[in-house]
Amino acid sequence: MNILVAGGAGYIGSHTCVELLNAGHEVICVDNLLNSKYEAIRRVELITGKKVKFYRIDLTNYEESKIVFEENHIDGIIHFAGLKCVPESISVPLKYYQNNIDSTFTLVRLMKEYNVRNLVFSSSATVYGNPLKLPITEDDPIGNTTNPYGTTKYFIEKILMDICKVDNTLNVAILRYFNPVGAHPSGLIGEDPNGIPNNLVPYVTQVAIGKRPYLKVTGNDYDTIDGTGVRDYIHICDLAYGHVLALNKLVTNCGLVIYNLGTGKGNSVMEVVRAFDKIVGHEIPYKVVERRVGDIATCYADPTKAYKELGFKAKYSIEDMAKDAWNWQQKNPNGYEE
Ligand code: NAD
Ligand code: WQD
Repeated sequence: MNILVAGGAGYIGSHTCVELLNAGHEVICVDNLLNSKYEAIRRVELITGKKVKFYRIDLTNYEESKIVFEENHIDGIIHFAGLKCVPESISVPLKYYQNNIDSTFTLVRLMKEYNVRNLVFSSSATVYGNPLKLPITEDDPIGNTTNPYGTTKYFIEKILMDICKVDNTLNVAILRYFNPVGAHPSGLIGEDPNGIPNNLVPYVTQVAIGKRPYLKVTGNDYDTIDGTGVRDYIHICDLAYGHVLALNKLVTNCGLVIYNLGTGKGNSVMEVVRAFDKIVGHEIPYKVVERRVGDIATCYADPTKAYKELGFKAKYSIEDMAKDAWNWQQKNPNGYEE
């Protein structure tokens, strides 16, 4: 199939492009490179030996985005394009609402005009807020979000649900990712955060390589196995492959479907740190600091529905995630460096 990958130069997008090309799909990538580099696309081509058709376009611009639909026959869209920095979304909420929601409007409007029926949307476990029960299932309540970024995901889910109610020709897969980490085993593509990383794993790898003195463990007084936060870390390649499976589901004319993409297993911050100690070969220095505002104690998925309906099962362990994240960091100490 011809798949338009919106935001395909980013962390999850680039790994998904690899899985799509390996599965025999053609990839048309649209990205404004606001939070990514073209080099990621070049490396996707290097890994797969296949070409990616690339457009540098801002998807909030309808007229420019239309060109992509004029020039290509598109069978399906995977929509990664969005801003994702939680603290930034708290300080500049409008930027988040405008970018994340407008880019979605453009895509769904063009889908209608060009008769594209299949859409995969990148949602997040953040839509569950502080979960009422664990593990989290897809029918658990959503919307009690703790930051504007999460609220954009919730709003977009609602928009997609509403348009599917009135158009039964549309097939939409909402994928709620848990915590994607790691990198492609080649070490050619990986996560390339701007400035100081917000997320645990890129912070740990920057400490391991000596760019930062120590990890700040944000809270060790949670009601968890060792007091530190517990999350469902999923290897980026497992997550990326989940998109190929979601597309297979969409072409069965399934209408709107929602899946958690996680492993079903929770690991604490200290368990992650210990996995890195082993892979890196020395102890990662850390200090315990205050909790982060808005953080929850524990979050992990029930991945049963994705397994039953998509055949999705994560195969990589936390040690694999640490190994591949460290390999990427060592081979690219300054990211893509264009
Ligand atoms: P990323 O920032 O690496 O990738 C997003 C890409 O979208 C970037 O390349 C960026 O330049 C592009 N983009 C942003 N706005 C755009 C616009 N208006 N027009 C065109 N391109 C635009 O982020 P990621 O980690 O790869 O995340 C991909 C998606 O998955 C995002 O929607 C994110 O919210 C969602 N998600 C990410 C995580 C995570 O932990 N990484 C978890 C859950 C959900
Ligand atoms: C993981 C654990 C921290 C950094 C975020 C977004 C979420 C989703 C995924 C997009 C927590 C602890 C972290 C550090 C630490 N993104 N930590 N020191 O917060 O679960 O999820 O990314 O949808 O919306 O909120 O991930 O990697 O930031 O934190 O101790 O320097 O590591 O307290 O327990 P989080 P994270």
